[in-house]
Amino acid sequence: MVLTMRNLIFVPLLTATFIFSLSAETQKPEHIPMSIWEAVTPYLIPEDHPMKNSLDEIFSAKRRVVHSSDTLKKAGFKNTRPGKWTSTIVAKHPKLTGYLVKMYTDDQKNKIDWAKFLDRVRGSKAVQEAVDAHDWHDLFKVPQKWIYLIPENPAPPAGRPRKNFILLVEDMDLISKKANLRKWERSDLPKKFLNAVFILLKEVGLRDSVYAFNLPFSTDGRIAFVDTEYYHMWPVHYRSLLQYLSQGNREYWKQIINNKYPVERD
Ligand SMILES: Nc1ncnc2c1ncn2[C@@H]1O[C@H](COP(=O)(O)OP(=O)(O)O)[C@@H](O)[C@H]1O
Ligand SMILES: [Mg+2]
Repeated sequence: MVLTMRNLIFVPLLTATFIFSLSAETQKPEHIPMSIWEAVTPYLIPEDHPMKNSLDEIFSAKRRVVHSSDTLKKAGFKNTRPGKWTSTIVAKHPKLTGYLVKMYTDDQKNKIDWAKFLDRVRGSKAVQEAVDAHDWHDLFKVPQKWIYLIPENPAPPAGRPRKNFILLVEDMDLISKKANLRKWERSDLPKKFLNAVFILLKEVGLRDSVYAFNLPFSTDGRIAFVDTEYYHMWPVHYRSLLQYLSQGNREYWKQIINNKYPVERD
């Protein structure tokens, strides 16, 4: 090979790329199948994320933290009871200020952690893109989400099932569930919210965002899209939102549905 200036830069660069891809490859823990690893890799929390060290610290404790709701509680998580609909545990931890984790424990059967979290991350990206495209940042917010690989050790007892991933999400600083329902049923709930919600549900196919509890208001007055697991799923049953609205807004929402598009500007 002729030693040109270009080669002087190019060859070390190629070598570095090769070594880097090799090390990225070898980072795959043996217990995770390649197909799953490849699917989650683009969404794994970056090493320099402000919460990465805290997560490592929490989940590398002496005893396995994700064994059960109880072990989560002992590790400092608050609100570790599985949710009513999807059995997801949505919990806070004092070392993860400004964030929440969504997870399943080893003892929760038939829950495929990585697939559910992949849907949630991709769903939130799809909603964020739509909010950006419409420039509706004054109306909505969408939590960023990252998948975190639970350290291989401490492992569950040999032969027992294990979960391998959890989801870290930005805390949307929501008003209480009751206050949210009251806000949705107000007669002066601005039509601009109904108009924009309709378009987002329609464009992104947000099948589960037709319930007021999945469209919670944040303390900053915006609606947060927190439940993004079901996206690109049509048809959307828009009528399910009717039960949460005032009489006037119910009539208006029916008009939007019939029209398949917002009727009035607000
Ligand atoms: N990003 C978030 N910020 C603040 N609270 C959240 C966030 N995500 C979820 N929550 C709270 O946890 C509840 C359940 O979360 P959600 O994603 O809707 O789970 P599920 O799919 O089990 O319904 C929400 O109703 C909300 O109260
Ligand atoms: Mg929900």
